[in-house]
Amino acid sequence: HGTSTINSQGHLEIGGCDTVELTQQHGTPLYVMDETLIRQRCREFVEAFRQSGLPFQVAYASKAFCVMAMCRIVEEEGMSLDVVSDGELYTALQAGFPAERIHFHGNNKTPQELEMALDAGIGCFVVDNFIELHMLNALAGEKRKKAKILLRIAPGVDAHTHEYISTGQTDSKFGFDLENGAARQAVLESSQLPHIELLGTHSHIGSQIFEVGGFQLAVEKEITFAAAVRAELGVTFSVLNLGGGFGIRYIDGDTPLHVSEYVAAITSTVREQFAKYDYPLPEIWTEPGRSIVGDAGTTLYTVGTFKDIPGVRKYVAVDGGMTDNPRPALYQAQYEAMLANRATEPNEELVSIAGKCCESGDMLIWDTKLPKAQNGDVLAVACTGAYNYSMASNYNRLRRPAVVFVKEGKADVVVERETYADLIRKDVVPERMKPVTE
Ligand code: LLP
Repeated sequence: HGTSTINSQGHLEIGGCDTVELTQQHGTPLYVMDETLIRQRCREFVEAFRQSGLPFQVAYASKAFCVMAMCRIVEEEGMSLDVVSDGELYTALQAGFPAERIHFHGNNKTPQELEMALDAGIGCFVVDNFIELHMLNALAGEKRKKAKILLRIAPGVDAHTHEYISTGQTDSKFGFDLENGAARQAVLESSQLPHIELLGTHSHIGSQIFEVGGFQLAVEKEITFAAAVRAELGVTFSVLNLGGGFGIRYIDGDTPLHVSEYVAAITSTVREQFAKYDYPLPEIWTEPGRSIVGDAGTTLYTVGTFKDIPGVRKYVAVDGGMTDNPRPALYQAQYEAMLANRATEPNEELVSIAGKCCESGDMLIWDTKLPKAQNGDVLAVACTGAYNYSMASNYNRLRRPAVVFVKEGKADVVVERETYADLIRKDVVPERMKPVTE
């Protein structure tokens, strides 16, 4: 998919770059991001909303993959950016991302984070709870500012498991509950606080969702709430943020909708529902993460060792693993792989792909078919663009891989591979433990 093809040497090519050459130049493991595909996904979202005719903002959820070059792309594509920590905020600001297009999320923002965001002049805080609401009001007051906010609502829609149940998921650490009156109370208090400007509500029902029903249900609940609040408290919202969560295809059998289908279904529900309550149409905001960067990423590894247990399983080990992709270990996530240097050869051997970390759970793929792999082959794992680099670790003191953006035959390093010096940069050996030197 994207700009991937197989070239005349039988090598996987992405963005016009031979992946085998990329590994020779940049080493492995290597994250390769198809810049054209990222931009295409950004444009699909923006275009789908434009088609709907509703006022909108698409904010890329940077937690999926947050580096300065990515912030540049999001800026160039005219989108907004959702951050969830001072670190993401810092990255965005350093990349020159306009503060007024940044939204700040999180269920436990620290006073320092709120101050940093206020000082930067970000566009919106998605307030999660009462402590934050009052802390933000006080800090904004000290700075003689007014903070624009959305209230994060827990709509009681559970879409985490591809199925949604209208009453589920009240047990969540996020947001103000609709059912017990917390959300209503939050609107009341927000509208009375002098340094808070309430724009509307936010909900996020889950991630890697394949159906629109959950989103539509959340829209209905939010709108019913907005209508009730308008009637009772006289507060009218101008923004409805529906979060992210649009699923992508990782393996055969995953059946996501196209971005345009998600957006069309959601926006038509919005129109219907707001008309029903005769409520002025608000701006619709959304926060896709995975669906912007997920399938644009491919991780390249070098095949190392094997363990063949006759009649049981053959393990093929690569030079990365749970440190660069913790998703299989964390979520039983499934991926597809191929040998990038032998891309035209038939898949004739059933193997399982192991990482190099010292624990049995460090497996990337169970039971997949590949050409008979040899030491030195290049293994490409697809759809690693989201929640891979951003969740990578230095477990076992492995150095985090480089990230390259490929486009039209050019490869730009956007994150350098960590060095040994990086690994010990923050280590301090107390004077009394220093090795004795003569
Ligand atoms: N908005 C909010 C408030 C969120 O919490 C999230 C994701 C998003 C937007 C973006 O969701 P997306 O479009 O990427 O599904 N580490 C997990 C995913 C965690 C998602 C957390 N929140 C994984 O690797 O599957």
